[in-house]
Amino acid sequence: MRISVFRKAHFNAAHRLYRADWSKEKNEQVFGLCCSPNYHGHNYDLEVRVTGEVDPETGFLIDLKVLKEIIKKHVEDRFDHKNLNLDVEDFKTMNPTAENICFVIWKILREQLDDKFELGVRLYETPRNYVEYPA
Ligand code: NI
Repeated sequence: MRISVFRKAHFNAAHRLYRADWSKEKNEQVFGLCCSPNYHGHNYDLEVRVTGEVDPETGFLIDLKVLKEIIKKHVEDRFDHKNLNLDVEDFKTMNPTAENICFVIWKILREQLDDKFELGVRLYETPRNYVEYPA
């Protein structure tokens, strides 16, 4: 039986969207309030989907305790109450947009999960704005 399980998680983080190689005017035009120099925060909600075959012996797809710990250790502990631009290596060279954060989280989790699982990540930057990888 092929099935998906989901785990929700949450972190608060600050960010700023800008390009150092662009003028102040162009940054403001493209990124609006999100490029304000003193950063701002979001309450990010994360939904992780793991898909695969149920183990007939246990009836589990994946032990949710294990999934919870992976997300906590590798995503929440790394991102929660952090300044994404300054504290997370990937965003020193890449804008921490919801799109890029979602993809980075997917990459982090992909490394932690067995290849037999399919993985999907949905990231809410606000209750109404969210992104999903893979598309
Ligand atoms: Ni923002």
